[in-house]
Amino acid sequence: MQSKYYIISAVINGLRGMPSFHSMMNDQQIAAVTQYMHSDPNNFTDTVTAANVAQLRHHFPPGADPSE
Ligand code: HEM
Repeated sequence: MQSKYYIISAVINGLRGMPSFHSMMNDQQIAAVTQYMHSDPNNFTDTVTAANVAQLRHHFPPGADPSE
């Protein structure tokens, strides 16, 4: 949870048993939920922006299998 990019990647791409939210949330929404997870229960202090999410977002949604 210390790296915002780890959380953003899990939300965009999915992670093993976790589904991808690529097609369900826009950059601002993913930034908001990432900010919450990074800061509220974990007390890390980075600022998470929609531009950070845009850095990791790719054009096509990942396949149903997050390992793809
Ligand atoms: C959008 C809100 C969500 C955020 C920010 C989020 C974030 C994360 C993060 C950061 C991890 C990695 C935890 C770690 O490495 O210790 C994770 C794991 C996981 N998440 Fe989510 N998650 C979200 C929604 C969901 C939903 C809705 C589900 C179920 C439908 C889900 C299921 C899982 C599962 C099963 C894992 C464990 C993956 C594995 O190791 O196999 N998540 N999530």
